[in-house]
Amino acid sequence: MMTQQFPEDFLWGAASAAYQIEGAATTDGKGPSIWDTFVQQPGKTKNGTTGELAVDHYHRFHEDVALMAQAGLKAYRFSIAWSRILPDGEGVVNQAGIQFYSDLIDDLLQHGIQPVVTLYHWDLPQALQDRYNGWESRALIPLFERYCHILFEAFGDRVTYWVTFNEQNVFTSLGYRWASHPPNVSNVKRMYAANHVINLANATAINLFHKLVPNGSIGPSFGYGYVAPESAHPLDILAAHDANQLNNDWWLDVYCRGQYPQKILTLLQQLNLAFDITDADQALLKSAKPDFIGINYYHGGTVKRPAVNQQPTADKSFTKIDPYLMAADTQDDSLESHLFQSVSNPYLEKTEWGWEIDPIGFQIALRTVYERYQLPIFVTENGLGAFDTLTADRQINDDYRINYLNDHLLQLQAAIAAGVPVIGYCAWSFTDLLSWLNGYSKRYGFVYIDRDDHDAKQLTRIPKKSFYWYQNVIQNNGESL
Ligand code: BG6
Repeated sequence: MMTQQFPEDFLWGAASAAYQIEGAATTDGKGPSIWDTFVQQPGKTKNGTTGELAVDHYHRFHEDVALMAQAGLKAYRFSIAWSRILPDGEGVVNQAGIQFYSDLIDDLLQHGIQPVVTLYHWDLPQALQDRYNGWESRALIPLFERYCHILFEAFGDRVTYWVTFNEQNVFTSLGYRWASHPPNVSNVKRMYAANHVINLANATAINLFHKLVPNGSIGPSFGYGYVAPESAHPLDILAAHDANQLNNDWWLDVYCRGQYPQKILTLLQQLNLAFDITDADQALLKSAKPDFIGINYYHGGTVKRPAVNQQPTADKSFTKIDPYLMAADTQDDSLESHLFQSVSNPYLEKTEWGWEIDPIGFQIALRTVYERYQLPIFVTENGLGAFDTLTADRQINDDYRINYLNDHLLQLQAAIAAGVPVIGYCAWSFTDLLSWLNGYSKRYGFVYIDRDDHDAKQLTRIPKKSFYWYQNVIQNNGESL
């Protein structure tokens, strides 16, 4: 392994999202989001868990920031709940919402921690879903722009790093295709149409930001997974190439180059899944360029050639869900089935939730993205979901998490040595939090939260073994890895 120092100003951080930690779902004027509503439907989440209380970060953020300072974090990524700022998504601003995030930002800065603000981490105001049909309507673009305008004006003097959309690839496919997230839709054509509107909103926000906060940096956070071929057979290599184009370039090319990959566009047309792209849309997408690319990395994928060389036909039903990659089932008639089939990689171990563990894939991901787009990279998420055990003497010995993070950071270091400019690394997550569909037992944090799906208990914060490990890594700027 090549060794290379981490840059002196490397942003060692951790991340979270509003719905997963804040709680206070109706406190101080907050309006409902699509997640507040979605989780009320029976059977949607594990044990019916919701973010109504979550880990009550809203009332305990001083305690959480003190722990971040104790860990030595240089950056903390969190998201803003749109419906805390604008309860209806539009109209009157809720000053209490602005105040909450303002206090959080001040507290972080006082502890020498850079706030990294995500504008949208999946919790669309319910009012915008009801009134406009959410992201399927272009009406959302100026509304998102106004919401961003309010935040850039309120916090642009104190916050340098901003993330536009968190994992657009994940929330559009889970929300509009697999119906496992709100708005609970299962329609591929509508997914592609909504995705295009979000691309336009992303470009609009970036352009506005560059006008209002010229010294700041903004970019989307993308859920990236490098796709490898199952074998050296040229058809498998071609399948992997196509899978990378469909799963990764489809979004990153638009963010960074302002254009969609042609092959996929053509295929969408053949399958009657195409959406409208006007000349003005094209000009807008071309005009906006992010300052960095946020990469969330959990795992990649492996594919082989499609089962049959099918002629494209209109899209039908979808049966298989890979929540992270838009992976294909073997026999369905989906877009993917014309390009590849997903297979499991026999060389990789899996987490208890079946996610492959592939630190080398992390290095490949970072290098591929940089080599393709030449933009700095901010790792905005990476981490291990696991069942943790609280021992009788109230310890959490999460060596598995330490190993996971250590292995990934070594690969990140190798990517830096290979010339990739990496701004920082936000582990997912700082405290344990609500794992959208998996309740509170799939834990990611450096800090254990003493609650479970059925009993919120006292929500006591207990630093895990990994907390002290990370504290040490940060202290010596990665030399102990
Ligand atoms: C990312 C999201 O997709 O993965 C996070 O940005 C999420 O919000 C994380 O929690 C882990 O996913 P999960 O389903 O294990 O909670």
